[in-house]
Amino acid sequence: MIYMDINAEKKYFSEALGFFYETQWLHNSPVTEILTKASLDAIPKEWMSHLQILENEELNNFVVKKTIKIDWPDSLKTYVARCKRINRLPPVPASLSSVELPQNFKIGLSQKKQHEIMHLAHLVGVQCKRHDIRTIIDLGAGLGYVCQMLHYLHGYRVLGLEKDKENISRAFTRQKKFYPDSLTKVKYAHCDVTCDSADAIESILRKEFPDVADVCLIGLHACGDLSTNASRIFCKMKSAKLFILISCCYHKLSISKRVQTPVQEEQYFDNFPTSNRLRETVAAYNFDIGQFLRIPFLRLACQESADKWHGMSREKHDDHSFHVLARAVLELYSRQNNYVLKKNVRKGTRKSQCLNFQTYVKDSLLRYDFIPDTDETDSVITHDKMEKGITRVWEEQSRSLKAVEIYTGLQMMLQLPAESLILQDRLCWLHEQGLEAVIVPVMNKCISPRSYAIVSHKR
Ligand SMILES: C[S@@+](CC[C@H](N)C(=O)[O-])C[C@H]1O[C@@H](n2cnc3c(N)ncnc32)[C@H](O)[C@@H]1O
Repeated sequence: MIYMDINAEKKYFSEALGFFYETQWLHNSPVTEILTKASLDAIPKEWMSHLQILENEELNNFVVKKTIKIDWPDSLKTYVARCKRINRLPPVPASLSSVELPQNFKIGLSQKKQHEIMHLAHLVGVQCKRHDIRTIIDLGAGLGYVCQMLHYLHGYRVLGLEKDKENISRAFTRQKKFYPDSLTKVKYAHCDVTCDSADAIESILRKEFPDVADVCLIGLHACGDLSTNASRIFCKMKSAKLFILISCCYHKLSISKRVQTPVQEEQYFDNFPTSNRLRETVAAYNFDIGQFLRIPFLRLACQESADKWHGMSREKHDDHSFHVLARAVLELYSRQNNYVLKKNVRKGTRKSQCLNFQTYVKDSLLRYDFIPDTDETDSVITHDKMEKGITRVWEEQSRSLKAVEIYTGLQMMLQLPAESLILQDRLCWLHEQGLEAVIVPVMNKCISPRSYAIVSHKR
């Protein structure tokens, strides 16, 4: 019997919805549009007057540790308190630090990927031992890194399912080259996993491992709909007894309905919300979530966490605010002059080489095409004239550099609450199916930002 505190869940969801509704000025537009949408002007004046005088380290501590000052306005203190309350994700233990992969598993892998594989493999090992499971199905196996590691560490049989045939062929090539002993125990198969794939997966499993009993379904960085479909498959598949999933790319969830309004495009998703509890709460409070829980919100939820600002130097902050504001200036100039910006394939200067706006704008004129948007747009404008026009906008806006950093900091404080809402919704869905499920911290956030796994078990 699953214990669910329905009232507590409803209270959490209603508080989170209210919070994200009120703070949409911080999360409802792409960062390139902070000038066109006048997002910086939405920062409350009383917050600005306190935040803009913070020293570099104080600003870092505000964003990372939520350190507040006694004389700050109540509205700002409340913002911080609500960020803390709506983040229900468990803290990551300090012991999750360095890991060493065996030498032949390191080939071609970044430090980040090594960290992810090792920690997920460890969690899978602990959970499978507890439930006496020795066969794994990896949904969205990519190049098979986790599959091979699970076999190497624990001797499991592993079926890696992937929709990209090129990935399967590369995983197989790697296997033959580096881990030939695993050929009968680690299998890769093509499968475009949807919510209706339970039977298809069951038959691939029987074909590859005919005597199989219980299996554990896993996914590392299951992007977009793959994550929610994986939960549905876990529910339906008889042999699946354990489920361990780390999601990513929430913003790639498929959109079920778009409504164009004069202000913006409303966006409604197939798989968010998923739980009845969150859907009911949305309806009970009459929230139109297509207006404020849109792609930019989902994108924020899968960005790096505020921890990134831990000890961040002034130079790095300056560099960041410069690039954000400079890009927003290009957008503003384009809108004002009826162009649409389109990135082209020509290589421009590297980011680090753009030391000042003159270099930046010259580089941008190489990297972007300014496509005329209306009949009245000047379509024969010279680069020189454009450069002057963009520079004029920069001169008007460059006083906002500090505001950009404050805005970014406030926005980063929303990352964990946003991810928390999405994962709580998914957790709640599993509970509603009568399953035990918890959220477990798996990775070090500074190395790998998607650091939580949903772990569910069927009795
Ligand atoms: C972000 S990658 C992660 C790969 C691998 N799990 C890892 O961590 O190295 C996501 C993988 O899922 C695969 N994928 C996405 N949607 C899928 C689907 N519906 N069915 C099967 N594979 C899918 C992609 O092709 C990609 O290889």
